[in-house]
Amino acid sequence: MSYEIQDHFLDVAVLGAGGSGLRASLGCAEKGLKTACISKVYPTRSHTVAAQGGVGAALGNMGKDDWKWHMYDTVKGSDWLGDQDSIEYLCSNAPEAVVELEHFGMPFSRNKEGKIYQRPFGGHSTENGKGEPAHRACAAADRTGHAMLHTLYQQCLKYDVNFYSEYFALDLLKDDQGEICGFFAINIQDGSMHRFLAKITILATGGYGKIFQSSTSAHICTGDGAGMSLRAGLPLSDMEFIQFHPTGIYGVGVLISEAARGEGGYLKNSEGKRFMLDYAPHAKDLAARDVISRFISIEIKEGRGCGPNKDYINLHLDHLDGDLLAKRLPGISESAKTFCGVDINKEPIPVVPTVHFCMGGIPTNFRSEVLMPTSGNSEEVRQGLMAIGEGACASVHGANRLGTNALSELLVFGKGAAIRASEVLENEKFNKHPSQSQTDEIINRFDTILHNKGDISVGQLREKMQKTVQSRFGVYRDEKTLAMGIEELAQMSSDLNHIDVKDKSSVFNTDIVEALELHNLMQISRSVGASAINRTESRGAHARDDFPNRDDDNWMNHSIVWMKDDKFEVTKRPVRMTTISNQAKVIAPEVRVY
Ligand code: FUM
Repeated sequence: MSYEIQDHFLDVAVLGAGGSGLRASLGCAEKGLKTACISKVYPTRSHTVAAQGGVGAALGNMGKDDWKWHMYDTVKGSDWLGDQDSIEYLCSNAPEAVVELEHFGMPFSRNKEGKIYQRPFGGHSTENGKGEPAHRACAAADRTGHAMLHTLYQQCLKYDVNFYSEYFALDLLKDDQGEICGFFAINIQDGSMHRFLAKITILATGGYGKIFQSSTSAHICTGDGAGMSLRAGLPLSDMEFIQFHPTGIYGVGVLISEAARGEGGYLKNSEGKRFMLDYAPHAKDLAARDVISRFISIEIKEGRGCGPNKDYINLHLDHLDGDLLAKRLPGISESAKTFCGVDINKEPIPVVPTVHFCMGGIPTNFRSEVLMPTSGNSEEVRQGLMAIGEGACASVHGANRLGTNALSELLVFGKGAAIRASEVLENEKFNKHPSQSQTDEIINRFDTILHNKGDISVGQLREKMQKTVQSRFGVYRDEKTLAMGIEELAQMSSDLNHIDVKDKSSVFNTDIVEALELHNLMQISRSVGASAINRTESRGAHARDDFPNRDDDNWMNHSIVWMKDDKFEVTKRPVRMTTISNQAKVIAPEVRVY
């Protein structure tokens, strides 16, 4: 079919309107760059709105703190897979980013002195792990992401950012030399087609939790930027590292914030025992998430789970003061009531580890420039393309993210990307035009998916894929199970050609949008499988029964996965063990105990 295409000429096109996309858009607009923020949902519906417990920054409002302790905790939390220059950038810039947000009008909770309220969170300590838990999570009750997203959106409006809401991006655009020059999108509202032609494209497309059947992710978390990158011949990094949050509500997967344990809640097994006291005597219920999720799984596997089927663990808050629960944890009080009928003042909440965050994504350096790690130069950057937020892999989280560091990452790297974009645009001339043949290919792909005569619905195939990913790529993995998952996904992938998109119309056609999302999800699932089977060690969130130990000699490396002719190839990139300034010191690997 032939379509009319509308072109939009920009300095910067930001794809995604979650926390990182909004912070980057705001920063670019503030610097006078012609900026548009394009999103498949209305900005305040982005998944950042669901973040609960807090944003990590060493402000020291509730006790002594230091950004270098934050850096130590983050490196340790990452199980030494995080790039240390990126981690330094995150932790040293987080305090300023949070104060700036306060000045933007963010309605933070307050301590007695009127300063931003900060609570303890898993894996955050003082004195490089030797001191007391750090009060580092800057919170707006347990609805921090909601407050943050609305605050950033208001600032974007103040700076007249151009928003294109409810546009779905299909693919990155390239010029005849193969350089990225923006992306192609459809307007979901009327089906019109658009090319966002930008000197710099910033992908802020979020995570891909929806490859799993049960996750705390919203329906929109389909890793669209990662899918676009793979199809553009770019690699993804560390896809095997998927975070299970220890406390998703049993049976529904809704998040119960770690803030619950930060405020004094604890976990008990069916024998009424606080099992974390044995597993992590120092940090207890505030050890890092990968550690707690593994121990909950062990408790359940060894028959000490709660309930008639012994398949969950109890999270107790019923010993805490009712006024504190109402003031600090109103959101989870409501979720517990709504989703499992529990009054947290009186009863424990049944919880299980639930998929929550994707550590992997589009590889970048600490300046948010997308890496094109070929064997000759692992730090080579892809001109004109940046990535930020959960969809990127900077890599500040390495093999496991600490709670609160996702929101810090959004602010720090969103702002940093705007700074870098304006530097680059000042010094370099961009004169790129999209290749017509590539535009035609994108439209052909769209038409093929839309008009395909198939025998399986998007929903059926998505559910099949999610069940496989859930059962084969879970908390504990081994070669045999991973291989089965990889094989099943390869077969399902060919079913993508049999999808029946029933709705052929151009007005708010969610059927075609979900079909396009499923293509992204399938390619991402396969890159997770390929990376997971390739990493023959256990590190952070990647726990291999057949390789139970961390292997620093062979695996202080990021996995780099490429899609080539429907095959997934994995190469390596060394972890960056360098710092940016002489204020920070490289933190050498240690045994990771809490
Ligand atoms: O538990 C939570 O509130 C989640 C926070 C996070 O993922 O950073």
